[in-house]
Amino acid sequence: MNKKIHNIYIRTWWFVLCLYSLVFLFFSFPLYAEEKKESRYIGSDSCKPCHESQYISFKSHARKSRSFDSVQKMKEGLTEDEIKACYVCHTMGYGKPGGFISVEKTPELRNAGCEVCHGPGKLHVEAEDPAYIIRNVTIDICQECHIQERVQAFRYKPIIFAGSH
Ligand code: HEC
Ligand code: HEC
Ligand code: HEC
Ligand code: HEC
Repeated sequence: MNKKIHNIYIRTWWFVLCLYSLVFLFFSFPLYAEEKKESRYIGSDSCKPCHESQYISFKSHARKSRSFDSVQKMKEGLTEDEIKACYVCHTMGYGKPGGFISVEKTPELRNAGCEVCHGPGKLHVEAEDPAYIIRNVTIDICQECHIQERVQAFRYKPIIFAGSH
C-alpha cells in the first residue's frame, strides 16, 4: 500500500468512527432523558378506568375524597397563608412538583386522593406498569399528615387500611 492511499484509508476510518459516535450520542440522549423522567400527580379520577372497585370504595367512604370541602367550610376568618398551610395535607401534593396549585389551575387535584398513599401516578397511568406506583404503603407515609399531635395512638396494623378502600 503506498503512503497516499494509506492516508486516505485512515481518514475514511476516522470519518466513519466520528459519524458512528455522533449517531450513537444522538440516539442515546433521549433514552437518558427518559430514565430521569419523574412521575407527576394526575388525580384520582384517572385511576377509575382500571381500578374501579378501589375508586368507588374510596369515593364513597374515605373523607380524603372530600378533604378540600373541609378547608372551604372553615376558611372564614383565616388569612391566605393560613389557608395555604391547610392545603399541604388537605389537597393532592400541594407544594410538591406537579401537585395542587389552585382550584382554577388544578381542579382534579383539589382533594387528597389515591396518590397521597400510592405516590404520583402519571407514569403508571401512561405505561400501565406497576413498577411506577407504590404498592407497599407504610406508616411513615401516613404520618406526613397524621402527625403526632393530631393522632395520639396511631397503630400500624389495625388502621393502615383505614381511609383507603
Ligand atoms: C390504564 C390502566 C391503569 C390506570 C389508569 C391506573 N392503573 Fe394502577 N395498575 C394497572 C395495571 C395493569 C396494574 C398491574 C396489574 C395489577 O396488579 O392489577 C396496576 C397496579 C396498580 C397497583 C398495584 C401495584 C403493584 O405493585 O402490584 C397500584 C397500587 C395501582 N395500580 C394504583 C393506581 C393508581 C393510584 C392509579 C391512578 C393514579 C392507577 N393505578 C391508574 C393499570 C392502571
Ligand atoms: C397528604 C396527607 C395525608 C396522608 C399522606 C394520609 N392522610 Fe389520611 N387523611 C388526610 C386528611 C386531610 C384527612 C381528613 C379529610 C377530611 O375530613 O377533610 C384524612 C382522613 C383519614 C382518616 C379518617 C377516616 C376516613 O375514612 O377518611 C383515616 C382513617 C386516614 N386518613 C388514614 C390514613 C392512613 C392509614 C394513611 C397512610 C396509609 C393516611 N391516612 C395518609 C390526609 C392524609
Ligand atoms: C399536618 C396535616 C394537616 C394540616 C396542616 C391541616 N389538617 Fe385538617 N386534618 C388533617 C387530618 C389528618 C385530618 C383527619 C384526622 C384527624 O382529625 O386527625 C383532618 C381533619 C380536618 C377536618 C375534619 C374534622 C372532622 O372531625 O370532621 C377539618 C374541618 C379540617 N381538618 C380542616 C383543616 C383546616 C381548615 C386546616 C388549615 C387551617 C387544616 N385542616 C390543616 C390533617 C391536616
Ligand atoms: C390512605 C391510603 C390509601 C389511599 C388513599 C388509597 N390506597 Fe390503594 N392501597 C393502600 C394500601 C395500604 C394498600 C395495600 C398494600 C399492600 O398490599 O400492602 C393498597 C392497595 C392498592 C391496590 C392493589 C390491590 C389491592 O387492593 O390490594 C390498588 C390497585 C390500589 N390500592 C389502588 C388505589 C386507588 C385507585 C386509590 C384511589 C381511588 C387508592 N388506592 C387510594 C392505601 C391507600
